[in-house]
Amino acid sequence: MHRAKVQGRPVAEVIADLAADQLADPRQAIVADIGCGRGTSTRILAERLRPKRLLAIDASASMLAAARAQIRCAQLADASTAITYVRADFHRLPVANTSCTLVVAAFCLYHAPDPRLVISEIARMLSPDGIVILVTKSADSYRSLDRLVAAAEIDPHAELRPSLYETAHGGNLEALIAPSLTVVHVEHEEHRFAFTGLDHVAAYLATSPKYELPPGMVANPDTIATALRARIEDGTVAATSTITYLIATRGDMP
Ligand SMILES: C[S@@+](CC[C@H](N)C(=O)[O-])C[C@H]1O[C@@H](n2cnc3c(N)ncnc32)[C@H](O)[C@@H]1O
Repeated sequence: MHRAKVQGRPVAEVIADLAADQLADPRQAIVADIGCGRGTSTRILAERLRPKRLLAIDASASMLAAARAQIRCAQLADASTAITYVRADFHRLPVANTSCTLVVAAFCLYHAPDPRLVISEIARMLSPDGIVILVTKSADSYRSLDRLVAAAEIDPHAELRPSLYETAHGGNLEALIAPSLTVVHVEHEEHRFAFTGLDHVAAYLATSPKYELPPGMVANPDTIATALRARIEDGTVAATSTITYLIATRGDMP
């Protein structure tokens, strides 16, 4: 998907821009990057904000190892940021109450069956003057691929499969945070993707948990590509996803 992007600002840079605009003193900030994955947002936050402390949190040990490697490679010129890698479930984070100036959760809330529980955990960690930056995708992201998969009959019900972003998407994010946080700013940006051909689409589909593929195609880009080519003319395939950035504070939390 990353290779296919043809329009849309780099998400980690936008997060850092928003944080830099909102934080009174970024260098004194205690930052938590929840569901940090391979650490791209963690690295950019370290480079751009140079906060006092940065917690890279993820449930996956392999993702944390990748984050650590990415940050090590970046050789941050200013080593004044203490970076800690924390393996934890975002429903129960080993982070003290009111200890974070900035909490970022990008492209991870939709992995929670009920993201409100994660959002209340984020609110618990947030200092009274702290800010939260949440990033998610629209529920209709990559819908053109559903049509393609259905038309190729590799999952005839592809268009009926629930969105991967169903529990936390651009359309429900404000309602999800309302019990715990107060919205300060929301913005949406359409990202456009152009897959170079059916091999490129197949490489993405092989990583997507969305579809019910025949057993021989699961995680197998070659067999997916062959099946696509049997029914679809090869060529560029376009897709879109709208990215939502939401900034919130504790508001009048007791
Ligand atoms: C799509 S990646 C997002 C990575 C990164 N935030 C980014 O913007 O590129 C989602 C991450 O959420 C993590 N994740 C999923 N469920 C989680 C949970 N219950 N607790 C903590 N992390 C979780 C996954 O391990 C994965 O690294």
